[in-house]
Amino acid sequence: MYHPMAIVRDLNNKKNFTLYTKNGLPTIEDAKKVIEEWKENNEIDLLFEYITDDNNIVYYKNNIDVLEHVDYKKKRKNIYLNFENEEYKRIALNTKRVNYENEITSADAFIILLKDVEYETINTLCIEVAKKLEKEYYLPKIEPYKVYNIINNQKAHPEFKKIVLKQAYEIIHEGKKLGTKTDGKRNASNWIIHCLFEGELMSTLADTTGLNSDTAMKLGILHDIGRKKDHSFMHTVKGFEYLINQNLTNEAFCALTHSFLPSLKDNIIIGNRCATGDPPIDGFYVNENGEGVFEKDAILDDVAYFLENYEYNSYDVLLNLADLLATSDGIKSPYERVQNIYSKRTPDPRNSSFFKVCVINSFSNFISNIKETEYQPINIKNIKRVEEIDKLLKEVSDSFVDIYLNNTKRKSNISL
Ligand SMILES: [Fe+2]
Repeated sequence: MYHPMAIVRDLNNKKNFTLYTKNGLPTIEDAKKVIEEWKENNEIDLLFEYITDDNNIVYYKNNIDVLEHVDYKKKRKNIYLNFENEEYKRIALNTKRVNYENEITSADAFIILLKDVEYETINTLCIEVAKKLEKEYYLPKIEPYKVYNIINNQKAHPEFKKIVLKQAYEIIHEGKKLGTKTDGKRNASNWIIHCLFEGELMSTLADTTGLNSDTAMKLGILHDIGRKKDHSFMHTVKGFEYLINQNLTNEAFCALTHSFLPSLKDNIIIGNRCATGDPPIDGFYVNENGEGVFEKDAILDDVAYFLENYEYNSYDVLLNLADLLATSDGIKSPYERVQNIYSKRTPDPRNSSFFKVCVINSFSNFISNIKETEYQPINIKNIKRVEEIDKLLKEVSDSFVDIYLNNTKRKSNISL
């Protein structure tokens, strides 16, 4: 197991990186000594990002200086994803498969997503819906707050729901926000806009693969409903619990699966708890076959147990692709998104390469389905340098973008 040892500054590129060692080091002097030894042995000049035999990355940079010693025990942020009570846990752990295709539509999903959201978060949307109703249905003046109340009481007419969804798409396609409220620098409707873009992307991907496009859109819209309550990694669990409470027992599962890329286990597709941009659970490692597994004595969380038992359906697989690419600014390429994720947070050496390889394999599986070619997954064990992973990611990303551009109806709001 590797631990962050020191934050270092690459003086050539003016960027900070974290150095990792097997045991952590007690003081900054120790960290400096180790780096001096590396420099003397010329190792720093030879290697940039190097994958060790344990498939961990160690960052060595030319001309580096130690900025900060990391006490890994204090700095580590492992979020354990556990359910609030035994009932949610029972439902999650006893479900092996779900079918997302049912009478709940994408427009229903959007109204459910908006329930209890503050008025200022969606006031622009309410104003536009009111205008639309007045114009198209020759209705007398409608106060936007009335629209908000109809959304909130959840008993709206199906036509009304469709209008709300359509207007929301019109707003975000113009690059606008759904409301005026801000949380710090961010607009408070950003997470809802992300869901809308993800819904749209899901529908395109579903069309391309022969799945039901409205079901796909519904899942894209609902998957992040947990963000209403919590923007941390716990939003997965919170979203599941929320949708169970709304009696959306099948849809609830998309909240749990969307953050964990698919991997194969005994020829069954399951989600891997550590195939994510977030730090892995203690005891995670990559075995000889390139599979992400846990040491026998590892303490797992509820979601890890759920993922071991739950079989991903085609929508779960697509949702993981779509979630990676949909942002609140539109759709990005897989390559750009992975770079972006790791520019905001320091890659955790225990699972960042594994995550990237899972991204490559997931997209290349999708591409081979479309092109009807044989899918050949990459085994991380056969890769020796991080640059190779980035090169493979770029290739698969470019192929995906080609397919996407050939199939999407909307090319605006896409930066690829
Ligand atoms: Fe998402």
